[in-house]
Amino acid sequence: MTTALEIRDLSVSYRGGIEALRSVSMDVGQGAMVALLGANGAGKTTILRAISGLLELEHGKVTAGSIRVFGESLENIAPHQVVRRGVFHVREGRHVFADMTVEDNLIAATFARPSRSTKLDFGEVYRYFPRLEERRRQLAGYLSGGEQQMLALGRAIVAEPRLVLLDEPSLGLAPMIVKEIFQIIERIRNEKQLSILVVEQNAAIALRYASYAYVIQNGHVALSGPSMDIMKNSAMSSLYLGGKVAA
Ligand SMILES: Nc1ncnc2c1ncn2[C@@H]1O[C@H](COP(=O)(O)OP(=O)(O)OP(=O)(O)O)[C@@H](O)[C@H]1O
Ligand SMILES: [Mg+2]
Repeated sequence: MTTALEIRDLSVSYRGGIEALRSVSMDVGQGAMVALLGANGAGKTTILRAISGLLELEHGKVTAGSIRVFGESLENIAPHQVVRRGVFHVREGRHVFADMTVEDNLIAATFARPSRSTKLDFGEVYRYFPRLEERRRQLAGYLSGGEQQMLALGRAIVAEPRLVLLDEPSLGLAPMIVKEIFQIIERIRNEKQLSILVVEQNAAIALRYASYAYVIQNGHVALSGPSMDIMKNSAMSSLYLGGKVAA
């Protein structure tokens, strides 16, 4: 399988010398959904920032190791260039433009397209998320939490990426909505053959949809394997799943 993302021995420090990642290695196969699990502060978001180039904004830097996307190194590449290579980072907390309409939020995402196409047909987004079409002239700030997450994913679709980084899509959402959102993410992955790296606190749902998972603990990979194996791992179950794997 072609590799969408290949991280080797990545170490990252933030200003003040805090070492957030220590020699992390991981892969995402093309068209696969891979989960990044772990407790608060483990380093999950830092991995996504290192890939998308947002680390610098946070006064962090890669101190060792390499990141390759579709075979190409991301060393010394600015965030907007990473986007042009087809990597789209949906940040934690959704980050839609609250005082712009739903449709204007989608229009803004066209600038991230690697093809530089300015096509303004959002039919595909509205097929995945009919609720966004109903609310397309509404200000994004007035959407519910679940709808804002849908808009953040809609923006990712508009950007036409090959690799999507999702930071906690379930954050603050009711279980029913979380399930609905993961089902749509899975449909999008399958239909568009997208590669997805998803960070989740909700390990049960992530393991159900991802084929492979990495468990991050104190800045390094503590455990990795096919989701089924991680689910069955007793240490994993008591640490992160609280015994509710079947949620
Ligand atoms: N901008 C920053 N400056 C300094 N330290 C940071 C910064 N961002 C994160 N850290 C530290 O790096 C470590 C990893 O943080 P990170 O945000 O990657 O964790 P996480 O696994 O995403 O946690 P959470 O589940 O709470 O989102 C933590 O110890 C955190 O305090
Ligand atoms: Mg985080």
